[in-house]
Amino acid sequence: MPDLYRRPVILAIETSCDETSAAVMAGGHHVLSNVVATQFDVHAKYGGVVPELASRAHIENLDGVVQEALELAGIGRDRIDAIAVTSRPGLVGSLLIGVTAAKTLALAWGKPLLAVNHLHAHACSAAIDLDEPAVPWPAIALVVSGGHTSLMRVENPLDIRLLGCTIDDAAGEAFDKVANILNLGFPGGPVIQRTAERGNPAACDFPRTMLARDSLDFSFSGIKTAVLYHVHGPGKTAGGLEKLTPQDVADIAASFEAAVVDVLVAKTMLAVEQTATHTVMVGGGVAANQRLRNELAEACRRRNINLHLTPMRYCTDNGAMIAAMGTYLHEAGRFADLSIEPRATAME
Ligand code: KG4
Ligand code: ZN
Repeated sequence: MPDLYRRPVILAIETSCDETSAAVMAGGHHVLSNVVATQFDVHAKYGGVVPELASRAHIENLDGVVQEALELAGIGRDRIDAIAVTSRPGLVGSLLIGVTAAKTLALAWGKPLLAVNHLHAHACSAAIDLDEPAVPWPAIALVVSGGHTSLMRVENPLDIRLLGCTIDDAAGEAFDKVANILNLGFPGGPVIQRTAERGNPAACDFPRTMLARDSLDFSFSGIKTAVLYHVHGPGKTAGGLEKLTPQDVADIAASFEAAVVDVLVAKTMLAVEQTATHTVMVGGGVAANQRLRNELAEACRRRNINLHLTPMRYCTDNGAMIAAMGTYLHEAGRFADLSIEPRATAME
């Protein structure tokens, strides 16, 4: 293990939503540890993330998660070069826990601080395990998560331009809401995917909202409403679920998943065409979806586009992707001030 502790060694903290995570990464590519404490149990009965409960769970979990990340990496604070933390976007109360912890460690240990944009970290997470010469940028990045659905042009990790984003629900949010409508549990993505495997994706004709012909924005609230009315009856928001057979539910899940995936793939290919880019990177929780991974692979193969899918373990929120982005900031000398504040939005 000659260069396992190649500099910089970054301790990263991620608390933007409902996962408390800490990771240690050396030299930008060696993930020495990546500890994720999920809060599924806390939020499951509400069918979505409850911000106050998320903040409280971060407070309870963070200390242990950071300790574990250091222990698994087998290093003490003396080997850490900098502390990276997600400072935006996300739930402000949740971000605040991570940012405060990171500032405290930076001050107490005398280490520089790095403020990471969560969306940029998802956008570049497909590169976490790649060797340096194999960097995938310039690329189009599709970030599909519970809070965001965005297309970006990545010149390099420190030069990322937003091309389009959702004007209402995020793709993952739609998965979670449809799972709720079908009473399948939370989080919706994985359970919809499992249910959809037994269903017919052509059974229901759900809308594929493309907006204007050349638009790189997304809209997923229409499909959510279409599923709602399909289950309960036109204009109704309750009743009807009991009349559906397990096969009906599987068909709805499969048709919904197919419609969302069709839109994501079509818009990504449109971004590729508009910007004459030859590489696509995909990250975020919904990037774990097998149908999306397969359809993107097929679309990119047909067009001779390089595709870098984020490894499954780095799709949902994790500290490793924050450490990777922290490494780029560190190498560029872009350190943060101890006065940084968490921000809910991606941009100023
Ligand atoms: O990136 P992430 O952990 O959190 C945010 O930054 O929002 O993404 C979580 C989202 C949830 O909406 C979850 O339902 C979705 O990712 N998700 C999936 C799958 N696994 C997680 N959606 C579709 N298919 C999956 N296999
Ligand atoms: Zn995320």
